Amino acid sequence: MTLIRIPQIWSASENQITAETLYWNRRRFIKTLIGAGIGASILPLAGCDSSNSAVGKSASQTALEASLDLPKITNLTQNPAFTKVQRPITEEKLAGQYNNFYEYGGTKKIWLNAQKLPTENWKVEVTGLVNNPQTYDIDELKQKFPLEERVYRFRCVEAWSMVLPWIGFPMKKLIEAVEPTSKAKYVRFTSFYDPEITTGPGFHIGSLPWPYQEGLRIEEMANELAFFAVGIYGHDLPKQHGAPLRMVIPWKYGFKGAKSIVKIEFLDSQPATYWNTIDSREYDFEANVNPNKPHPRWSQATEKFISKGPGLSWDIKETLAYNGYGEYVGHLYS
Ligand code: MTE
Repeated sequence: MTLIRIPQIWSASENQITAETLYWNRRRFIKTLIGAGIGASILPLAGCDSSNSAVGKSASQTALEASLDLPKITNLTQNPAFTKVQRPITEEKLAGQYNNFYEYGGTKKIWLNAQKLPTENWKVEVTGLVNNPQTYDIDELKQKFPLEERVYRFRCVEAWSMVLPWIGFPMKKLIEAVEPTSKAKYVRFTSFYDPEITTGPGFHIGSLPWPYQEGLRIEEMANELAFFAVGIYGHDLPKQHGAPLRMVIPWKYGFKGAKSIVKIEFLDSQPATYWNTIDSREYDFEANVNPNKPHPRWSQATEKFISKGPGLSWDIKETLAYNGYGEYVGHLYS
């Protein structure tokens, strides 16, 4: 077992804490920007998160704590099938300051910038090939579908992982409520996007396929594990984790879990999705966690499991097929 310890996540240099994919993804973004004819003057912006570098450690810590200090969710049950996994739950402050949310920037340190996400009066439209289309207010959703807590493993395609205690409801409950027609075969999930607000440096220009969209086969969405999260660590979802509603698909790589969802559409054919459109060879539509299928640029056989602070550190663990959830989902892919 290898343990790599870096003293303070907020003082570590980008290279120290940035997973190799992120580094390369950033190069790809920069290449995309160049390809799109964007001038060299904006390139330095794409390489740093200026909002964070301007904040000192203690101010930063105070702001981080404030971003996680959210209303508790009390009307919930613990699903006995998902109270623990064989690894400890990742510390909340670590998970809350090590995120991917490209609308708010291209580093892991977007938590502060993501506080711009406007979550008031949030509506979620459920439409397409359904008998009972709905537009839900977020509070209505939280009342309508009984909430439960589930501890799930979380595995990013960049080969880091966490264990997270989500609060939400199974996606199959929404399927029951809107009654898809027999023509519905796929589902597309769309994240909030407003170029005036989502200000990831340089990322809204050129050919990047905003808004962030993801998709599932309808059988995948109906699986027991597929989950909509409205909370985490006992309280409402922080903005950096995709408030107020996000997808959690624990047997797939994390990029399949679109954040801050505003629209859900039932379709008859496979939708285009964000990363798959950027590079289909590296990010396939199915994206099931698979230790035997290397990413074109790195192995997926092991992962960096992030669990304990105060600084960022990880243990190297073996990657599990379907992220350890084969008994629930293996039959979907036979
Ligand atoms: N959803 C949106 N809208 N934008 C994103 O950039 N990143 C994805 C996914 N959902 C992303 C997104 C990726 S690559 C990962 S690994 C997870 O969110 C990270 O979730 P977390 O930051 O809550 O750990």
